[in-house]
Amino acid sequence: MTSRQNNSLTALKKEIKRLEKELATTKAALEAILGGKIDAIIGPECPYVLKAKQAEEEINRLLEEKDALIKEIHHRVKNNLQIVVSLLHLQLTHATNPESRDNLLTLQNRIRAMALVHDMFYRTENMAYLNLADYLERIAIHLFNVYRVDEKRIKLNLELQPVEVSINIAIPIGMILNELVSNSLKHAFKNKDTGEVRLMLSSDDGTSCRLIVQDDGIGLPPGISLNQPNTLGLEIVRLLIEQINGTIKKLDLPGTAFELKFNKFLQ
Ligand SMILES: Nc1ncnc2c1ncn2[C@@H]1O[C@H](COP(=O)(O)OP(=O)(O)OP(=O)(O)O)[C@@H](O)[C@H]1O
Ligand SMILES: [Mg+2]
Repeated sequence: MTSRQNNSLTALKKEIKRLEKELATTKAALEAILGGKIDAIIGPECPYVLKAKQAEEEINRLLEEKDALIKEIHHRVKNNLQIVVSLLHLQLTHATNPESRDNLLTLQNRIRAMALVHDMFYRTENMAYLNLADYLERIAIHLFNVYRVDEKRIKLNLELQPVEVSINIAIPIGMILNELVSNSLKHAFKNKDTGEVRLMLSSDDGTSCRLIVQDDGIGLPPGISLNQPNTLGLEIVRLLIEQINGTIKKLDLPGTAFELKFNKFLQ
């Protein structure tokens, strides 16, 4: 390397050192300005951030309070309905007339189906929706117990897809199922040794649901119509499906089969 080349290399090294220093000073100044500003704009001390944080805390507190109140209401409604169920049970133990006993038991089942929905909502994390499949299964199993069904004689066949529905759908559908399964257990298997009650629940497109309640019993007697029922059970079914803008039709199958269609949420 010539001495001229050597000199320019030393000068270059010096220049690089100077530039590095200048860069460090600029960087420190920039950090000081930006750091201060950033703190002032979004730092924890900024009044806007403080206000937003307080508002968020208040919203969360109110939401928790609302959830706790809804839970409490479900709990109280369930307890009150449970008291009615117990009163009906007491009355049932004193009733001797078979018709009165049957009426009291039917009424007890109807109220218990409503109490159950509040109990389930009280126990769920998400209080807006309920798994309809679980609810329907519990109603059906309860009815099999109440009517003391011999499982070897009459089978309960459940094909229930999990479907989340709102409370204003769960209650009417639960009540309808209560009527239809009670009917199967009370009327369908007279003079029949064995049989099956089949429940199918599905939801294909995310909004609409389809429920089939079927038994392979003796079938509906002639003259019984869902459109103009003369008896309370089927009248309840007709009114409740209408209430949720759903449809019900009798399927042309052996025994008695109904197909219900409804939306998961009341529109
Ligand atoms: N699954 C079924 N199999 C055979 N017959 C049925 C079935 N469901 C209903 N029925 C007949 O239809 C009639 C009307 O049913 P509905 O539920 O309206 O009245 P109910 O069961 O007699 O009385 P309630 O439901 O008010 O206690 C019944 O009395 C019964 O004769
Ligand atoms: Mg009935």
